[in-house]
Amino acid sequence: LEGEAAAAFDSATDAEALEEARVRYLGAKKGALKDVQKQMGGIDPSDRKDAGIRLNAFKANVQTAFEESQSRLGGGDSGGIDLTFDPTLPGVQPAIGHIHPITQTITHLTEIMGRMGFEAAEGPEVEDPHHNFVALNIPEDHPARDPLDNFYLSTAASLAASGSAKGIEGTQLLRSQTSTVQIRVMETQQPPIRVISLGRVYRPDAPDATHFPMFHQMEGLYVDRNVTMANLKTVLRVFATNYLGDDVEIRFRPSFFPFTEPSVEVDFFWNGTWIEFGGAGMVDPAVFEAVGYDPEVYSGFAFGLGVERLCMRRHSVTDIRDLYSGDLRFLSQF
Ligand code: PHE
Repeated sequence: LEGEAAAAFDSATDAEALEEARVRYLGAKKGALKDVQKQMGGIDPSDRKDAGIRLNAFKANVQTAFEESQSRLGGGDSGGIDLTFDPTLPGVQPAIGHIHPITQTITHLTEIMGRMGFEAAEGPEVEDPHHNFVALNIPEDHPARDPLDNFYLSTAASLAASGSAKGIEGTQLLRSQTSTVQIRVMETQQPPIRVISLGRVYRPDAPDATHFPMFHQMEGLYVDRNVTMANLKTVLRVFATNYLGDDVEIRFRPSFFPFTEPSVEVDFFWNGTWIEFGGAGMVDPAVFEAVGYDPEVYSGFAFGLGVERLCMRRHSVTDIRDLYSGDLRFLSQF
């Protein structure tokens, strides 16, 4: 039988004939091998072990003969049938990407603030010192302008224009805060103003669990007549309870920013701890003057919150570097 099967495989000239031969000898239902297997039951128990060994050898040899013929035909014309392709096997799922957690957070925050009437505004990431500092009431000798705390873009042109490497004052930089967008909006629009701006900011911090040289802020600006600190606190409370939950408390601590007066640090209490999320305050009259608003007529508040901090707090992420590692094991959880 073994020789007969091998000869049948051998003489098959195309894939179809080979398949027919395979069914004849190796077929699971009616194959010759199956018949032999059935006869095993009738064999004397003392001979059964020996018969089993011979049956297995027979099976292996017929299988080998079949595979040899299969690869012989595979090399030539296989009659258009790919014997190695099994259409009944489940397919391989293509990996589908999704939106980065920080982008998801930005969308979520924009939506919450949008419900309170805040429109999204944008500004460039490469800024001039006027928008990043001067119009925000940050004078030339202020430590916030230190080259060690900012990514200045010392192009050959800016160095040549200043005549020396010391002339950093006129040099463009990667914005260190989204407060730049406050200025850009007020330069082009008249009150009432109700905007937020979500975007990247850059500071040369060494990366650790809570610092990264690039991160995101959500800036808020509200300018109208009779805007007060109570409006600021209300908007931030509504925001925080919408984003984190009803059990959130909010706390202001006195602080200082050149572009707000008074200024506060904003803390939210959630899941048992107070965490600082950013700064805020009433827009300083000097800022209104820089953009041509009358500080006797208008008042306003501004705030800047850390987007990563909000995202990490909500999703219990403990290391900011995970957000920017590109590690799919981390990212695919969002
Ligand atoms: N720009 C400030 C910072 O980056 C935050 C801030 C924004 C403070 C608006 C007050 C008003 O730290």
